[in-house]
Amino acid sequence: MSEPSKLYEESGKVKVSISPWRLQTLSKEALNDLEKFWAEQARQLNWTKYWDRTLEWDPPFARWFAGGLLNASVNCLDRHLDSETRNKAAIVWEGEDGQSRTLTYFELYRQVCKFANVLKRYGVTKGDRVTIYLPMVPELAIAMLACARIGAIHSVIFSGFSSQALVDRVNDAQSKVIVTADGGIRKGKVVELKKVVDEALPSTPSIERVIVLKRAAIEITLGPNHVWWHEAMKGAPHVCIPEAVESTHPLFILYTSGTTGKPKGVMHGTGGYLTHVLSTAKWVFDFQKNDVFFCTADIGWVTGHSYVVYAPLMCGVTEVMYEGAPDFPGPDRYWAIVEKYGATILYTTPTALRMYMKYGDSIPESFDLSSVRLLGTVGEPINPEVWMWYHRVIGKERCPIVDTWWQTETGGIMLGMCTGIEMVPMKPGSATFAMPGIEAGVVDEKGDAVPLGTKGYLVIRRPWPGMLLSLWGDDEKYKATYWSRFPGTYYPGDYAMIDKDGYLWLLGRADDVLKVAGHRLGTMELESAFVAHRSIAEAAVTSRPDQVKGESIVAFIVPKEGIAKSLELRKQLLDHIRATLGAIAVPEEVYFVDKLPKTRSGKIMRRLLKAVASGGTVGDTTTLEDGAAIDEVRKAYEDLKHEVVHT
Ligand code: WTA
Repeated sequence: MSEPSKLYEESGKVKVSISPWRLQTLSKEALNDLEKFWAEQARQLNWTKYWDRTLEWDPPFARWFAGGLLNASVNCLDRHLDSETRNKAAIVWEGEDGQSRTLTYFELYRQVCKFANVLKRYGVTKGDRVTIYLPMVPELAIAMLACARIGAIHSVIFSGFSSQALVDRVNDAQSKVIVTADGGIRKGKVVELKKVVDEALPSTPSIERVIVLKRAAIEITLGPNHVWWHEAMKGAPHVCIPEAVESTHPLFILYTSGTTGKPKGVMHGTGGYLTHVLSTAKWVFDFQKNDVFFCTADIGWVTGHSYVVYAPLMCGVTEVMYEGAPDFPGPDRYWAIVEKYGATILYTTPTALRMYMKYGDSIPESFDLSSVRLLGTVGEPINPEVWMWYHRVIGKERCPIVDTWWQTETGGIMLGMCTGIEMVPMKPGSATFAMPGIEAGVVDEKGDAVPLGTKGYLVIRRPWPGMLLSLWGDDEKYKATYWSRFPGTYYPGDYAMIDKDGYLWLLGRADDVLKVAGHRLGTMELESAFVAHRSIAEAAVTSRPDQVKGESIVAFIVPKEGIAKSLELRKQLLDHIRATLGAIAVPEEVYFVDKLPKTRSGKIMRRLLKAVASGGTVGDTTTLEDGAAIDEVRKAYEDLKHEVVHT
């Protein structure tokens, strides 16, 4: 574990206080009276009717601001229409092909109202689900806010997912409408989104209407209930009276991977969620009037929901939305965007930073990054060397770095430095402290707090407003997944440590969830996809450390009797994963074996597979059913190491 950095104290370049007294005081006050604290934060929102009770806590179900009525799109848009923010740029969009578009708050409001009326015209009403499968274009935010305006529940699906992933998610949510595009643009190529939707449609009977945005200008065919976005918008009324929904009304479902085969529909409410993302955005990023916020996350993931769409718009800042790949056309795109739009805050992933770092300092140094005042990271642990590079080369040793830990389930940031409250001395690789109102701890197997400096499981002890309402349609799974490991306490599935100064360090996942290039993937989800292939009997998926992506996927595969372990089969499998789940789930390495190492009770010993894949030690194998299996896995790995399949 890295020692606290001396750099900051020594250089004197970053002004820090000796101890975080202001944060500590606020946190103490908040935890002493949690409801009073969050009620004060919630008053920053526009409510049609204030709540009757701040929190109804029926563990593990929280109903924040029960009895309150509000609308999320009003809080992002209408609230700015009477101020100078009305005509300010809300979204500055950069297409991968260099196109640029700016939408003011008023223009965004107009588009949202119109599209809300389109949805209404197609029979979408409060509580209906709308699947949004769009590339990173302003219409993605417009579609989400339009759903929110009429009380429909959006379910955004990352545009890198393929048809099977789409089918599973649409069917689970029973969506009525899909909003998609002819294609998206990624690395200079067209990703044919409508084609993926067409493949999915025969298996998604709940869909009544498909709305298609023209983005890539490719040939597509429109079915009987398919309509172009621009045609549908023609003549749609400009005004749409917002639906005031209950604070606990679901705002969205966002599917995420866990330790089971099927992705989980994380369901977020309205009042609590908005309170959480608004407060944390103010605390962490300390938004100022002139800020230009560049969050590089795709809206298909939670960071994009909370800190591309909801938080910046509620705060009335100008944000940059970028459509494409960070290394297209060259490995300098984020720096070019920062320079072009004068971004003041950059919020990105360690994977992107590791990729840029590989190309050397001279590339970012050739851009004017002087507008930047604050840097952030999210999604995976940041290695201290990468943190230092970010600080030195991008931040020129004058910008603080906020390393923010949170999850799809938490709705918003939970751990990280609150520059809007108080700067604290930074430690490269540490997320610093919990947000005010969040009580985090680190415990052992039994749920007892571990001593300072000891690795354990991260837990969150009290409810918080951004917490998921439940899993869509599955309260039991919600209870079992998050609240049963340590009863009464939220278990996120991460390892962590608190050091002697009280700083939190995140030490990776404690379960079978992978973080590949910041994307969250479940090993079971991948294994189910492998065994769905007709030639495969069994599959076990694990990961090994990767210098850029953090982790890369390694699969051990047992083909069915009589099926040759050929390169051809391997290629077929990779194509199969790409077609069913999407390119982000394609393993870096695939090894064929005759059997998998299992315990006597028949469970695959993933720990061993991970050790083999990472070249580490295998440790205790006494519970293995068949000691030969692990040797076989290792041999298969050794044999094939030299023919790694790069995908
Ligand atoms: C990991 C992304 C270390 C963690 C917002 C968590 C992090 C999972 C950090 C959630 C961080 C997120 N440091 N690890 N700053 N931020 N993680 O749902 O394992 O895509 O549980 O949400 O990402 O991933 P998700």
